[in-house]
Amino acid sequence: MTEPKTMFEHVGGMPFFTQLVERFYEGVELDSLLRRWYPEDLEPGKHALVLFLAQYWGGPGTYSEVQGHPRLRMRHNSFTIGQAERDAWFRHMSVAVESSGIDDPARQQMLDYFAMAADHLINAAPAG
Ligand code: HEM
Repeated sequence: MTEPKTMFEHVGGMPFFTQLVERFYEGVELDSLLRRWYPEDLEPGKHALVLFLAQYWGGPGTYSEVQGHPRLRMRHNSFTIGQAERDAWFRHMSVAVESSGIDDPARQQMLDYFAMAADHLINAAPAG
């Protein structure tokens, strides 16, 4: 019997995540709501996100070896993320997923994960 493929293998490994994150960042760069929080040099952040996602989807564990435990909520504490920021982030990631050419069910699984993870990073109380 062969082991079921991980998502990492299914999408073709590292090049998929590198391209996904490049596309995502194209959206972020033009988005004033989000861009203000990102440093001038976007490359280290891109690299961290590629490694994080590759690890999450069953690829090499390089992210944790370099950065330690992900602790994503803590790493996002310095940004006040409300619904608008969450939606902007998710919109850019959805565009990246849709343009990556992956088919369902992998496509839907990835979109569901990003929606859930982005919800989880909301750390601002709703207005009113
Ligand atoms: C909800 C809206 C979100 C906003 C506004 C946001 C914003 C940011 C910003 C400004 C950075 C710093 C980048 C840098 O220093 O170059 C960052 C880092 C990061 N974000 Fe997010 N993010 C969001 C959601 C997410 C989600 C859903 C994930 C995972 C699925 C994620 C994963 C990461 C990772 C892995 C890093 C790098 C942390 C490190 O340095 O190890 N983010 N994010």
